[in-house]
Amino acid sequence: MAKPPEEMIFIGVSEPGGPDALTLLKAPVPLPAADEVLIKVHAAGVNGADLRERQGKYPVPPGAPDIMGLEVSGEVIKVGRSCQTLKPGDNVCALLIGGGYAEYAVAPEGQCMRVPNGVPVIDAAGLPEVFCTVWTNMMDRCRLQAGETVLVQGGTSGIGFAAIKIAKAFGASVFATARTAAKCEAIRRFGADAAINYTVDDFHDVALELTNGRGVDVIIDIIGGDYLPREVALLAHGGRLMIINLRGGKIAEVDFGHVHSKHLTITGARLRPRSIAEKSAICRSLEANVWPLFEDRTIMPETYAVFPFSEAAAAHRLMESSEHIGKVLLVP
Ligand SMILES: NC(=O)c1ccc[n+]([C@@H]2O[C@H](COP(=O)([O-])OP(=O)(O)OC[C@H]3O[C@@H](n4cnc5c(N)ncnc54)[C@H](OP(=O)(O)O)[C@@H]3O)[C@@H](O)[C@H]2O)c1
Repeated sequence: MAKPPEEMIFIGVSEPGGPDALTLLKAPVPLPAADEVLIKVHAAGVNGADLRERQGKYPVPPGAPDIMGLEVSGEVIKVGRSCQTLKPGDNVCALLIGGGYAEYAVAPEGQCMRVPNGVPVIDAAGLPEVFCTVWTNMMDRCRLQAGETVLVQGGTSGIGFAAIKIAKAFGASVFATARTAAKCEAIRRFGADAAINYTVDDFHDVALELTNGRGVDVIIDIIGGDYLPREVALLAHGGRLMIINLRGGKIAEVDFGHVHSKHLTITGARLRPRSIAEKSAICRSLEANVWPLFEDRTIMPETYAVFPFSEAAAAHRLMESSEHIGKVLLVP
């Protein structure tokens, strides 16, 4: 196995700002700690958080590297002395606290997952962040059950894609929202039972009609703001609202009579600041419960575009345009 070089190229930020602030820089190749592995990056996933981090608007958790990037795939080339399962030469995808936009990245061994059989290593870079987030929030916390209904806001986002796929695979009925007819078509292609164009229809009214007035059991929300009162009103008895992000605003006037009378649960969570132990447990659960769905082709990765590191600005511009459907990746 070739030794890693001393220096690597990474995508840095010249000064917080627009996509053109992204620039290629050099840094020492990181050294793995005892419980970490060094990965030669084949691809890095682009996430909504990266856009805000580039602008200097994302509260980076303590201990995170200065380099952006929450997920990678690639080959393990070095393992720390207390690593137990991985060895040089293994292909993995990994959930990172940061550092993915680089030729080499370190990850705690527990946050590495094998690449599911049949999934190209490059596409695997787009799996950890959105599938870990959806699995832990929709299945662990909201306990979505077969036969229940779920509304996914932003059905063509990376998060939306993962939510639709997992919910359908586990026997739920799924409705999802999007801005255009083409995106609604993609939502149906992902397997959702109904797509709601939110520029034409009110998701509350459509979902209420689709459930014959009963309401939905689980809502996966990335918008918040003025969606919140309508979501709380839409939930069925015992319903659960999962706040993944609040892009549309943190403040809302909500009729808590719905919470009281319908026994609702409103919750939220962020993945990035969680402990290595928590993230590792999510990764093991994903390998056990979701990777088999990739291996029998119930789920295929949804990679929309792959850009070389030198075109990182174009990748960020695409994410900001919201034209993409599924994941955008960067390759060194
Ligand atoms: N809590 C966590 O741990 C966690 C983890 C990962 C991601 N996230 C968050 O989850 C969100 C999705 O992440 P991503 O990487 O998958 O981002 P992404 O692919 O860029 O998706 C953003 C989505 O928001 C949709 N959207 C914007 N306005 C909307 C509206 N008014 N109604 C419905 N949909 C709307 C866009 O779809 P249209 O073009 O159809 O509007 C787009 O699909 C981001 O905000 C990200 O920060 C949170």
